[in-house]
Parts: sequence; structure tokens; C-alpha cells
Amino acid sequence: MEAPLQKLQDPLLEEHGITLWIKREDLLHPHISGNKWRKLKYNLQAAQEQQKSTLLTFGGAYSNHIAATAAAGKEYGFKTIGIIRGEEHLPLNPTLSFASSCGMALHYISREKYKLKHDSNFLQELATQFNNPCIIPEGGTNNLAVKGCTEIIEDIAIEYDYLCCASGTGGTIAGIIAGLAGEKKVLGFPALKGGEFLQQEIEELVQNYSGHKYSNWQLITDYHFGGYAKVKPELLSFMKQFQEQHAIPLEPVYTGKMMYGLFDLIQKGYFERGTTIVAVHTGGLQGNAGFKERLGIEV
Ligand SMILES: Cc1ncc(COP(=O)(O)O)c(C=O)c1O
Repeated sequence: MEAPLQKLQDPLLEEHGITLWIKREDLLHPHISGNKWRKLKYNLQAAQEQQKSTLLTFGGAYSNHIAATAAAGKEYGFKTIGIIRGEEHLPLNPTLSFASSCGMALHYISREKYKLKHDSNFLQELATQFNNPCIIPEGGTNNLAVKGCTEIIEDIAIEYDYLCCASGTGGTIAGIIAGLAGEKKVLGFPALKGGEFLQQEIEELVQNYSGHKYSNWQLITDYHFGGYAKVKPELLSFMKQFQEQHAIPLEPVYTGKMMYGLFDLIQKGYFERGTTIVAVHTGGLQGNAGFKERLGIEV
């Protein structure tokens, strides 16, 4: 499986003397794409070693992680259980319909109860109820996921100055930071409003995995467009233009916002002339069908 580097040709980049490469992690797998593959890899291995037959995980109704875990279960022979935030809506949306078609059993819990997703008593309850499955946290983020995400940078065979990625739970950027071990500069673009809270969580993830604290990274918190899964017309028109020009599909929750933010920073002269940037395409394209269904937006 490969995640090739693709160089962008764009007048904005030329004008500002910037070289921008996209690391196409979205091409790693048709259904377990981008950071999902990286995050699940060692979790699946651990589940196999522990002879677990079932994976249980958490997510919202449009979650990329739910779709990827369902596909991984089907491909690698695990039963899968999705604990879904909120009520059931029928017919199932494209994400849950895909997950269900992979054999995932969907269990809906209230938004209140969902907040207990890290609570040890609640996790114990679930373990008892579902016959001791391998429990993977929301977004797939745990120490094994961070380990998998360190591999994102391993096959980048060019010289570069900055590495950029979108952030949700912080697991992906934590792996990148740990993998780079203080080299280069890393920029994370949180998809949530108030993404500053991630600073500490990422530090902890990096520390737990690597035993180190690094300072060569920063969160750029200005490009959330109102919050998680919120969109604005300027984001959608940027994505449309980007896709037409570069033939690289984006989605509005993570990669679209990161790319918008990156282009905006370049436009504002944030980077010195001569800078080389690698932006990680973390996949998530399955979510576009849900946007179309929910908002009638073609992305
Ligand atoms: C497509 C995509 N990109 C980026 C992220 C952010 O990753 P993380 O939660 O590890 O910060 C996610 C969410 O997991 C995602 O689905």
C-alpha cells in the first residue's frame, strides 16, 4: 500500500515561492483510508494477538472511524460493534449504511451517555455486555494509534520544512510529532472550535508514546469554520476550485479546512520564500456522501 507524494502546481505557490506536496494517505486503502489505516494497524494486530474476535468502538453518525473500523473488521475477520452517539435515524445515512453492510452491529446511546466513552465503569459495562471485545476509543486514538501514525512520515523521501495535518482527537499529529522527534516544524489544523484544548491532549499522547516533550509544533486554530462539521460558502468554493485545479478530492470536515487554512497562511506570507511544505491528506472522503444527503451539498 502506498501513499505517494504529489506536488501541487498553483499560481499562489509560485507567487510566494512555496513548494507544496500532498501526502496522499487517502490512497492507502479504498475504505480504511488515510489516518484510519495508520491508527487501526497496530490495534488490529494487538486484537489478533489477544485472540479477540470482536472490535468495539465509538463514533458519531457520520464518523470516518466507524466506517473504517467496520471495513477493517470485514477484511480482517473481526465482528464489529459501533456505539453510535444519538438516536437511530432510518433509513441509515451513507456512513452507517456502509458500516452495517460490512457487518457492524450498531448500538445507539444518548448524547449524555456517550460522554462516558472514556469512563472505566462504563467501558467495563460494555465489556461485560458484549463479551469482552477489543475496545478502541473514539477516533481510534490510543497509544497504538500514535505508533501507527509515526509511520506517516517514514516514506517521505524529500527535504521539507513543514508538515501539516488536520486534527480531531490529536492522535494523528501526536504520531507525526513523535515520529519526527524534534525535526522539522509541524502544524495542526483543528477541525473543532476551541481547538486550543488539544494542546495538552497532544502533549500527553506524545509523552505517553515516546517519553519526550517536543516544541517544534503548533496548532492553528482559526480555520474551524464555526465548529466540527460546520461549513461556510467560502470553504465550499475553495474546495471546489482546489478539486478542479488539482484533481485531488477533499472533504469539508478535516482536509478541506486544513487546505483552506494552509492556502490562507501562504497568501498572508506566514511562510518564508523557499519553504517546502508537506500536507497530509488524511482521507475521510466517505463523509462526502453524508454531506450531500444532509445538506444537499455536492462536495
Ligand atoms: C479525515 C480525517 N482527517 C483527520 C482526522 C483527525 O485525526 P485525529 O483525530 O487523529 O486528530 C480525522 C479524525 O480522526 C479524520 O477522519
